[in-house]
Amino acid sequence: MTSTVVVGGFFGDEGKGKIISYLSIKDNPKIIVRGGAGPNAGHTIKDGDKVYKVRMLPSGFLNPNAKVMIGPGVVVNPDVLQKEIEDFNTSGRSFIDKNCGIIEKTHLERDSKGELKEKIGSTGSGTGPANADRAMRVLKLAKDFGSLSSLITDVPQEINSALEAKENVLIEGTQGTFLSLWHGTYPFVTSKDVTASGICADVGIGPTKVDEVIVVFKSYVTRVGTGPLDKELSLEEAEKKGWSEFGTVTGRQRRAAYFDFDLARRAIMLNGATQISITKLDVLFNDCAGKTSFDELSNDAKSFIENIERELNTPVTIIGTGPSINDVIDRRI
Ligand code: IMP
Ligand code: MG
Repeated sequence: MTSTVVVGGFFGDEGKGKIISYLSIKDNPKIIVRGGAGPNAGHTIKDGDKVYKVRMLPSGFLNPNAKVMIGPGVVVNPDVLQKEIEDFNTSGRSFIDKNCGIIEKTHLERDSKGELKEKIGSTGSGTGPANADRAMRVLKLAKDFGSLSSLITDVPQEINSALEAKENVLIEGTQGTFLSLWHGTYPFVTSKDVTASGICADVGIGPTKVDEVIVVFKSYVTRVGTGPLDKELSLEEAEKKGWSEFGTVTGRQRRAAYFDFDLARRAIMLNGATQISITKLDVLFNDCAGKTSFDELSNDAKSFIENIERELNTPVTIIGTGPSINDVIDRRI
């Protein structure tokens, strides 16, 4: 029995979705449960020639035997959720908590103009205004909508019962450590705490019940929207390196920088990491593409990983070597 929390170590878009989909198949958790802010998150998952873009459901939905859940701390856009349940064929095994806040038209409108859009570069998904209404105690919850009743379950109870029954549970974070409302680059942050502790509170698991915390770092840093980014590359430099990416939710071009050890060290501390996952190693070292064992890596790539382990004093256990969910080196075994 293991409860594993997976969170982002930089500014989101570290490739958590792919790591979580891999773990959802490999570790066969009974429940994959999402914490985090809301549908401002976007994960791209590639399985063979199929590409999924997911914003609401946990990115572990690829395992047909797992239940996928959304914790009460997450605000839900019912239209986005229902579409994903249909598109990804997860009907009957997708659940939300009765206390999930609900995004309505007013939240989308308030998020698409003014300060949030212009100054912060918000995603326009309604997440921030909905969380603001929740703090004001005026947001409607899932239990207020009859149309959602078939999706509702007691998420904290389900997770804790599964752990009691010695099943694996995978707890999925969204965004990244430095987009946290408490620990990030305020005010250029999202509307929630998204470190491991916040994610656990979102889904209703207490700190003593957590076994592993995996912090995911990309091999370089990207940031979408405004806010500080140390040693930022010009767009031309980023393009030349193959680090130029586009956001899953907004389609905006992401800004890029070199792997940042100071940020990473702080992320390890803030999240209480027990393991590190490094993604997109193949983008830094082309000859690593698709490799599935550490021994097959080039010396430069091995040194890159070993240096991270030394600097951050934490083992790098899962390494992404390509976009597909099986392009992974798993050193836990
Ligand atoms: P909001 O969460 O939509 O209000 O956006 C606030 C800031 O967080 C903006 O800079 C967004 O680009 C950023 N952000 C929010 N969610 C994500 C995410 O999942 N990945 C990357 N950036 C995000
Ligand atoms: Mg993303």
